[in-house]
Amino acid sequence: MAIKTATLNGVATIEIARPEKKNALTQAMYQAMADALAAAQADPAVRALLITGQPGIFTSGNDIEDFMQRPPQGLDSPVYRFMQALLDFEKPVVAAVTGAAIGIGTTLLLHCDFVVVSDESRLAMPFVSLGLVPEYASSLLIPQLMGHVKAAEKLLLGDPFTGAEAVDCGLANAVLPAPEVVGHARRLAERFNSLPPAAVRESKRLMRAGQRDQVRTAMAAEGAVFGQRLRSPEAMEAFQAFFQKRRPDFSSFS
Ligand code: COA
Repeated sequence: MAIKTATLNGVATIEIARPEKKNALTQAMYQAMADALAAAQADPAVRALLITGQPGIFTSGNDIEDFMQRPPQGLDSPVYRFMQALLDFEKPVVAAVTGAAIGIGTTLLLHCDFVVVSDESRLAMPFVSLGLVPEYASSLLIPQLMGHVKAAEKLLLGDPFTGAEAVDCGLANAVLPAPEVVGHARRLAERFNSLPPAAVRESKRLMRAGQRDQVRTAMAAEGAVFGQRLRSPEAMEAFQAFFQKRRPDFSSFS
């Protein structure tokens, strides 16, 4: 199973485990993660949630073959259900990022409460290089985090950035040697076992409330364009180039 779940000592874990495809996320994996979030939300024994990947790879983002063959269809699609379930999740969420976090692998971090990255992590949002546009409210939240010009490097050029840069701009809490990341993140999540759960939930809700409507508005605006872009000739060229292991050629597009 490409999504593994477990609950131990008050912490529900979602582990992305498809290393042969660099943890690329399929529709079935988004659905499994949405279901795991719902189960963790409902389980009173769960005080916090941990999201993690594999050594060397958090996730390479959306499965590009899925983008081509099964593009997400609106609000009922598994990817949207996952995004919504993480947005609505009331308990603290800790992400443990070892290795690459690409596309939604980076943008989902914007919706976690704690992010621990490794000193070999590479984060990237190469939406434009794929003929797409930013998603998961990253067009709103990344410029807010780092200012427009730094955001332009990450979102328009798709430049990758390190774990240390993620800490500097406020996207992550700590950068650690890779073997220490998951243990540190787990200990952080377990601290919620000794805190009052309702006060934690209400505080998280209040911290997110100011931006709730803006985030949803940005996601709706992004979603409308993203859906069109997925079917665009630019995106088709980018997807085919990825599987043909060549550079995309956008020279004939205007
Ligand atoms: N979707 C589908 N398949 C993917 C994938 C993705 N997002 N990312 C990696 N894979 C597959 C590759 O096609 C390859 O499959 P193959 O063994 O059948 O050829 C396998 O995973 C290994 O990937 P590879 O590119 O050979 O590994 P790498 O170590 O050289 O590079 C990455 C790793 C993550 C840097 C690179 O795979 C990558 O850039 N992936 C795409 C990231 C992306 O653009 N995601 C979408 C964001 S919106």
